[in-house]
Amino acid sequence: MNIVILAAGMGKRMQSALPKVLHPLAGKPLLSHVLDTARQLSPSTLCVIYGHGGEQVPNLLAASDVTFARQEPQLGTGHAVAQAAPHLDDAVPTLVLYGDVPLTDSTSLQRLIAAAGSDKLAILTVHMSDPTGYGRIVREHGAITRIVEQKDATEAERAITEVNTGILVAPTAQLKQWLATLSNHNAQGEYYLTDIVARAVADGVPVASAQPAAVWETLGVNSKVQLAELERIHQRNIANRLLEQGVTLLDPARFDVRGRLTCGRDVTIDVGCIFEGTVDLADGVTVGAHCVIKDAVIASGAQIKPFCHIENATVGAQSMIGPYARLRPGTTLAEGVHIGNFVEIKNSQIAAGSKANHLAYVGDATIGSRVNIGAGTITCNYDGANKFRTVIEDDAFIGSDSQLVAPVTVGRGATLGAGTTLTKDAPAGALTISRSRQVTLTGWLRPAKLKK
Ligand code: UD1
Ligand code: CA
Repeated sequence: MNIVILAAGMGKRMQSALPKVLHPLAGKPLLSHVLDTARQLSPSTLCVIYGHGGEQVPNLLAASDVTFARQEPQLGTGHAVAQAAPHLDDAVPTLVLYGDVPLTDSTSLQRLIAAAGSDKLAILTVHMSDPTGYGRIVREHGAITRIVEQKDATEAERAITEVNTGILVAPTAQLKQWLATLSNHNAQGEYYLTDIVARAVADGVPVASAQPAAVWETLGVNSKVQLAELERIHQRNIANRLLEQGVTLLDPARFDVRGRLTCGRDVTIDVGCIFEGTVDLADGVTVGAHCVIKDAVIASGAQIKPFCHIENATVGAQSMIGPYARLRPGTTLAEGVHIGNFVEIKNSQIAAGSKANHLAYVGDATIGSRVNIGAGTITCNYDGANKFRTVIEDDAFIGSDSQLVAPVTVGRGATLGAGTTLTKDAPAGALTISRSRQVTLTGWLRPAKLKK
């Protein structure tokens, strides 16, 4: 099959410099949603008609399986499809999709493709209680005879509630002939793709129709209001799928997935969380309120407490993270690691059972098992030009408010006294401490206010 995606329109009502089809829904351009749906149908040709916004669309979405055809100026939907004609294989049907209709399900399209077979024209239609603005499906004795646009319709035609979604499948050789004969003698002075219906009827080509499972599958984005509405529908669909799989979402309306989230059994997610990229939550994971988690793997039984920010990180089984923890790229935590409030970890590996419970920065570090990192500990990994690693071996204890000036190693079972600034390696098993000795001056008196 050939697939043509219309994406040349300007989207004036978006009030934006960005071409409409590049606006993101669930973190991904509208047109990318349509391309992904199209790919599920394994087309032999995938052609995007672009125009408004210059080369931004092809530059951003170039892919080896996509052909881009420029439509300049934009003279209507029929003129848009005509730009794809040289790329279309006559031997297979052509499916037309819209780049600003992001939520169509491939099963609905499959129904339409089946209705078209190899030699029919098939239109995806829906019934709308308020059909204002849409092309109306005109039927005689049940058979579709033509489509009339809102602006060209009579009062009686405007009363028709069956509307054209714009999505259709046509036999390709005929489609090319019909497109070549379109005129723009209509209310909008445009070459209407919808006029091919009357052409098909005149040529004796049967016109079939199919309906999507839900009306929202055919809704387009013309404004930020509609974009926000479709975002909510999409998020609710994702939430429902997860709920059906047994995930507990404390409020499915306050939950966002901008990528792919997979969950094991007995996963619980509190309100206000955002999942981006590819996130994997294993069995029994709980995620507290208002966490942002991107490209991460959270192993079984781990608890992510509220207000954590996790990116490009792996959290081990039964670990406890947060509240208010930040795991930055390159963080790998083994089982039973505890990372508490206001702790930042970057590009570091922390082995099983180690803890950094309060106010610490661990960057470019390799930390062993059962290590305790006291409050206020900082790895000084950066000298202003280069970065260096800190190594802390198993069972070490890092006293509070220590600075480890990398490169430096704390040996197995070593203890650093609180307030240590470590600039040389700390030997295994020993106490290392760097702080000035404490003195007490007896007989010292507090200054008193001078008498006038
Ligand atoms: C079109 C249909 C209408 C249908 C409605 C569904 C026609 C004549 N009318 O109307 O029957 O009910 O969609 O939403 O087809 N585009 C181009 N190049 C152009 C014009 C449009 O690429 O020259 C693209 C737009 O970017 C958009 C799509 O085609 O993605 C539809 O265009 P739009 O102007 O929104 O069509 P409507 O007038 O809404
Ligand atoms: Ca439209």
